[in-house]
Amino acid sequence: MEKMRMESVDMIEKNIEKIESLFPHCITETKNIDGSIKKTVNFKVLKQILSNEKLDGDESYEFTWVGKKASIVEANRPIRKTLRPIVEESVDWNNTENLYIEGDNLEVLKLLQESYLERIKMIYIDPPYNTGHDFVYPDSFVMDSDDYNEGTSYLNENGDINYNRTNESSRPRYHSDWCSLIYSRLLLSRNLLSDNGVIFISIDENEVHNMRKMCDEVFGEANFVSQLGWQKVYSPKNQARFFSNDYEFILCYCKDINKFKLGELPRTSKMNARYKNPDNDPRGDWKPGDCVGTGERKNGYYNITGPTGKTFNVPKGKHWVYAPDTMKRLIEENKIWWGKDGNSFPSVKQFLSDVGGRKASSLLLYEDYGHTDMAKKDLIKLFSDFTKVPFDTPKPTKLIKMLVMLGSNENDIILDFFAGSSTTAHSIFELNLENNSHRKFVLVQLPEPLLNNDEASKKGLLTISDVGKERIRRAGIKVKNENPLLASNMDVGFRVFKLDDTNMSDVYYSPNDYSQDLLSRCESNIKVDRSNLDLLFGCLLDWGLPLSLPYISENIDGYTVHNYNNGDLIACFDENISDLVIKYMAKNNPLRVIFRDSSFSNSSSKINVVEIFKALAPDTKVKVI
Ligand SMILES: C[S@@+](CC[C@H](N)C(=O)[O-])C[C@H]1O[C@@H](n2cnc3c(N)ncnc32)[C@H](O)[C@@H]1O
Repeated sequence: MEKMRMESVDMIEKNIEKIESLFPHCITETKNIDGSIKKTVNFKVLKQILSNEKLDGDESYEFTWVGKKASIVEANRPIRKTLRPIVEESVDWNNTENLYIEGDNLEVLKLLQESYLERIKMIYIDPPYNTGHDFVYPDSFVMDSDDYNEGTSYLNENGDINYNRTNESSRPRYHSDWCSLIYSRLLLSRNLLSDNGVIFISIDENEVHNMRKMCDEVFGEANFVSQLGWQKVYSPKNQARFFSNDYEFILCYCKDINKFKLGELPRTSKMNARYKNPDNDPRGDWKPGDCVGTGERKNGYYNITGPTGKTFNVPKGKHWVYAPDTMKRLIEENKIWWGKDGNSFPSVKQFLSDVGGRKASSLLLYEDYGHTDMAKKDLIKLFSDFTKVPFDTPKPTKLIKMLVMLGSNENDIILDFFAGSSTTAHSIFELNLENNSHRKFVLVQLPEPLLNNDEASKKGLLTISDVGKERIRRAGIKVKNENPLLASNMDVGFRVFKLDDTNMSDVYYSPNDYSQDLLSRCESNIKVDRSNLDLLFGCLLDWGLPLSLPYISENIDGYTVHNYNNGDLIACFDENISDLVIKYMAKNNPLRVIFRDSSFSNSSSKINVVEIFKALAPDTKVKVI
């Protein structure tokens, strides 16, 4: 039994707790002199996550692999990239709150760190399982050592990603590469989860042990919620060498076990069938519950009188579960049932309206949540003009819908950064329709080519991300067409973004490398192919604003002024902006303002801007790019 502390707070313990809440993977265990276990900081790991350099020393942490330190360094390494808006591939660009981001998820997660910090309620990922046939993305950090590069065929002869390369178990760093891929991404994704957030990870028997160890480190062992088993096939495979592996896993970890609450599932009609209403109680259906407990209790043995005058008491060795006052109140409120004749032994009415939903089971049977074939059917129903399903490993919408129901509430944002065919988006549309909820998604998918699929390429789908976007478009249309009234106001749109190099030209970052002459000849510090919208969304990422909010672009005095979310940020990227425009922007009293550095012909015009804002909007933060 735990003892009272009877002394002041141990500040070291408190400090360790603070570090743990920020960086759970830096906490390990050690023994006290008396043999009891206490938490301690693993300074090697802490030092590493605070350093840009790969630190020397043994990689003696409990769970390690070749490249672990490098994967931590990589997760923390800043990148000069941006997300470019692609309006023409989007649906309902102006009004939607959903995002689809095309690119390598490691880099995308880095770019989302400020804008989505602690804003994501639920993450679902279904990464490559490392079965020996999966393509595992060659992160640059695993390419460090020459000897390793040799013979890995990560890149093709043109230096591009070799998408044909599978991670076969005979390769020297078979598990290590996969662990590095997952670990760096888990580290970054944890920052995006809200305090009450949760992550679900699909994985099979090949790497579930390593995935759990990594999750224990990244999310903290104490935040492990469950390891679900999903029955993925409806009939065992007789050709299996040993067992027919009929199920796989879904790991569930939360950000903070004290703040996380798992949702419930709707009750089944079978469960509700036990509730009836024989006395037409206006409070609805109810079922009789016991008023008697085993054993004797003080205040638990007394007479009560029923509606016909008959008195009742509990048998010897039992007690009424309610104290006399409570029982009196329940009788007055017509919550005690005396049988149809009013003469039966009393029971308490348990109303259906008072019982919550259904607790989810960790065993997910295909009858309830679908199997892999059903998942393909979900997809082919949308792509009925295709003879072959354009993506081989989707998950059933029933399964993902259930996870979303358990892990998020009606207005939350759900992130899936191994999006594949966009089952997560499709499931969210269906759930929003059924529950009248407004869940939103952020999906990330690498533009991995669809190999050997002539039919898809003839129909314009060249990459998995093309399939993913097309599925969302089709799922949105289907939901709207099939439910014209219910879905009329539903958000089935999405804004598309593509990962690309920074909007800024190299002079911006390293002017010292350029001669004065060359600098003056450079027209702009912004790449020539970048639009106003590119710059606006690049600034949003930089300033940590979400990418899904509404904005207007107005023409003021011949200049374009973008007003993002009603004054969260106002930007004008035109040259030689007039005072009238600057005053117009300031009068809106925005929180943030952005101009282009080259908008100002000299330093006195910059001072002029500062003066205007000082006078009209002193609290506005003004920056230039
Ligand atoms: C197992 S599939 C996900 C399937 C998805 N749950 C569905 O129902 O369609 C994994 C996906 O992750 C993608 N992927 C792999 N590495 C990636 C990376 N570095 N960045 C983004 N996506 C990646 C693959 O292209 C593949 O489509």
